[in-house]
Amino acid sequence: MSTANPLRDPRDRRLPRIAGPCGLVIFGVTGDLARKKVVPAVYDLANRGLLPPGFSLTGFARRDWDDQDFAQVVHDAVREHARTEFREEVWAQLAEGFRFVAGSFDDGEAFERLHDTVRELDRSRGTGGNHAFYLAVPPAAFGTVVAQLQHHGLTRSEGDTWRRVVVEKPFGHDLASARELNDTLAGVFPESSVFRIDHYLGKETVQNILAIRFANAMFEPIWNSHYVDHVQITMAEDIGIGSRAGYYDGIGAARDVIQNHLLQLMALIAMEEPVSFDAGALRVEKQKVLSAVRLPDDLSRGAARGQYAAGWAGGRRVPGFLEEQGISLTSTTETYAAVQLFVDTRRWAGVPFHLRTGKRLGRRVTEVAVVFKRAPHLPFGPHATEELTHNTLVIRVQPDEGVTLGFGAKVPGTQLEIRDVTMDFAYGGSFTESSPEAYERLILDVLLGDPPLFPRHEEVELSWRILDPVLEHWAAEDAAGGGPDLYVSGTWGPESADRMVARDGRTWRRP
Ligand code: BG6
Repeated sequence: MSTANPLRDPRDRRLPRIAGPCGLVIFGVTGDLARKKVVPAVYDLANRGLLPPGFSLTGFARRDWDDQDFAQVVHDAVREHARTEFREEVWAQLAEGFRFVAGSFDDGEAFERLHDTVRELDRSRGTGGNHAFYLAVPPAAFGTVVAQLQHHGLTRSEGDTWRRVVVEKPFGHDLASARELNDTLAGVFPESSVFRIDHYLGKETVQNILAIRFANAMFEPIWNSHYVDHVQITMAEDIGIGSRAGYYDGIGAARDVIQNHLLQLMALIAMEEPVSFDAGALRVEKQKVLSAVRLPDDLSRGAARGQYAAGWAGGRRVPGFLEEQGISLTSTTETYAAVQLFVDTRRWAGVPFHLRTGKRLGRRVTEVAVVFKRAPHLPFGPHATEELTHNTLVIRVQPDEGVTLGFGAKVPGTQLEIRDVTMDFAYGGSFTESSPEAYERLILDVLLGDPPLFPRHEEVELSWRILDPVLEHWAAEDAAGGGPDLYVSGTWGPESADRMVARDGRTWRRP
C-alpha cells in the first residue's frame, strides 16, 4: 500500500524538502571551513529534521583519531558554531553515524578503508549507496583526491544510487587553471554530479534578488539603461585576513571574492528572465549575461586595487597587511579590488556596473545598489532639490537583511524643499521565519541533487575570462615595480577606487 500523502504535491516548493538515505564524507575535516561552516550546518539540518534518520558523516584526515575522537571534534565545532540549539537526542542519533578514516590523500590503503567504511554504512545505517564527497581541501589536492576516489571504486554508482562531489573555491587562479581543474573533475564525475560551492548563492537575500525581479511587475519596466544610471555591488568586510595568510597571500581580493560572489550577484541583477527556475534555464541566462560583460579599454582607469595599512577596527589598533603573520614584506597581494564593467546588451548598453570588495573597510556590509537616473526635468526652482540625489533600490544582502527604496519627498513646512527619504523592508520586521545559513541550504541541495544554486563550469570559466585581463594588468604593473595603493584600515579603500568612479561624475555609496 502506498504511504504517499495524496495532498502533498511534490511540486509544492513550500513543503520542507528532506534528504533521502545518504552519507557525507568530508576531506579536510580538520580545516577552518569544515569546523566553522560545514559540520555545524550538518547538525543544524539534523536539528531541523531535514536529514534522513540513518545519515552518516565520515571525516577523512591525516590525524591519529578514532571515531570517538572525531565525534568529540564534531561536538566542539557544533557547540561553538551551530545556529540552532543543542539537543541531546538529535546529537545522539547523528553521532551514531560518525566515522573517521585516518590517512593522507596519497595513501591508497586509506581510500580502501574509506571504501569499506562506506559499504559498512550502507549495511548498518541504510545509506543506500548514496554518498557525497566534500572537498574542503586546497585546490592542489583536488586532482589526487578524485583520482583516488575513482581508483578505489568510490565514484561508481549502481542502479538508482548516486555519488556526488562538492568542491570549494578557489576554482583555479585564472582561466587556464580553472579549465584544467574542470577537466580533472570531468574525467571522474559527470557534470551533473559536481557541485561547486559559491556560498553567496545560498544566502536568502541573494535568492531574493530573483524574487524581487521576477515576482513583481513594477521593477521590470525600469530595469534597463533608460532608467538605470549605474549599479554598485559592494562586499565590504571589517576583518583583516586573520589566520588565513597561507590561503590569501597571492590570491587577493579579486580572485577571492569578485571572480565568484560578486560576478554571480551581478549576473542575477543583469540577466534576463529565465523561462523557469530549473537549473538549466537559470544557467542559460547567467551564462548569456556573463559572456556579454566587457571591461573598459584602459584598465589603469577601469580597475583599482589596494592593500590595508595599519589603522583602527572596532575601536582597536590593527596591523597593516604586510605586518600580518605569514605575509611576506614585499607582498603585492591586494586586499581591496574594484572594477568597472559593462554588459553589452540592449538592456544594459552604457550602464556601468561597479564592483568592489575589501578587507578592513569601514564596516561589514554586502549590498547591491541599483542607482536610477535623475528625473529628466525638475520643475521646483533652483534650490528646492539641492539635497535630492538619485532614486536608489538597495538590496541589503547582510547584515540587516532587507531592501530599501530611496526617493525624494517634500520636507514638511511652508517652504518647498525636497530631500532623500527611504522606504524599508527588513526581514526581521516582515517574517517570523529565520533564514537558514547558506551552508545548510547548499548541503541539503547537494544531498537532494538540486543544482540551481551551484555554478557550472561554463560560468566559472566565463568569470575568469572577465577577470584575467585585470589580473594580468596588475601583474604587469608589479613587474614594472608598481603595486597596490595603501589605504588606512577602517576607511573605505584607496583613493584610486574613488577616482575610478569620479571620472564619470559618480561616487561610491557609504553604506
Ligand atoms: C569567502 C572569502 O568566500 O567569503 C572570505 O574567501 C570572506 O575571504 C568570506 O571573508 C565572507 O563570507 P560572508 O558570508 O561572511 O560574507
